[in-house]
Amino acid sequence: MDAYIPPVEQTSGSGERWEWTQERYRNGMFSHGISSERRRLGLLESLLDGATRSRITALGLKPGDEVLEVGGGGGSVARWLAGQGARVTVTDLDTRFLEELTDHGVRVLRHDLYTEDFPPGSFDLVHARYVVMHLPDPDKAVARLAEWLRPGGVLLLEEPASFPVIDSPHPAYRTIMRAFRTHLERSVGSDTAWARTLPVPLRRAGLVDIGLDARIQLVSGGDDEAEWWRLNLEQSRQAIVAAGLADDTDFDAAYRELASPDFHDLSLAVLTAWGRRRAL
Ligand SMILES: C[S@@+](CC[C@H](N)C(=O)[O-])C[C@H]1O[C@@H](n2cnc3c(N)ncnc32)[C@H](O)[C@@H]1O
Repeated sequence: MDAYIPPVEQTSGSGERWEWTQERYRNGMFSHGISSERRRLGLLESLLDGATRSRITALGLKPGDEVLEVGGGGGSVARWLAGQGARVTVTDLDTRFLEELTDHGVRVLRHDLYTEDFPPGSFDLVHARYVVMHLPDPDKAVARLAEWLRPGGVLLLEEPASFPVIDSPHPAYRTIMRAFRTHLERSVGSDTAWARTLPVPLRRAGLVDIGLDARIQLVSGGDDEAEWWRLNLEQSRQAIVAAGLADDTDFDAAYRELASPDFHDLSLAVLTAWGRRRAL
């Protein structure tokens, strides 16, 4: 399919960096219609789910809790939550990878968190991972997610920041990561540094008992993180080359590094922040 060409940058007047349309994400470099996207999402899940499950467990998830999994992607977190006895709603702009979860008692909704609502006070836990950074005003998105919490309910965000990869000492990896970051910011509109403002947006949304954690993913030649990066790059390669941000030689050199047994480096930093809506 053709890549979505975003409109010229504009400000909507509400403080957003541009006017949001679902197509911007849904039809772009991460479209669920791209043949490798299911595998890319599956790799992401295998890389991140352990930390996510530990955090949600530590936050006190209980059977019967009403949970909203926002931008559920491939659905592994929603499936796990349902297995813990939670009553789970999972949303996404494109639900094609989530439909099978209805067999596990999960409510699957095609829903845009930025423009569509839930009644205030609907959920005991709202979780979003690698979603909010892609929206034009991530702070506004956080405020919306916080409103959907019941009194005493918890918002948990896990969002990446790209500084470790764009500052790599490995030349091919650094070059291609810089090109990728620029393309991501220009085409999807993602803010690859916003996660570093956490947890301030949660406090501004009125949440209390705020917590913050950070870690840096590791990447080694030929491992799952390297393969996840290769898929990210391959899905955007044509557009990056067409935009003159990198050429095929740069891609080939980066793929050689990412496949080499001698390659070890940092990958994305993952900022995890949580906060509770005041109990009545
Ligand atoms: C990088 S993927 C992460 C998927 C999943 N959260 C995970 O960590 O495994 C981002 C997901 O958010 C969805 N998404 C992006 N913008 C959204 C929006 N405004 N509302 C709902 N989902 C959105 C995308 O369709 C995609 O499935």
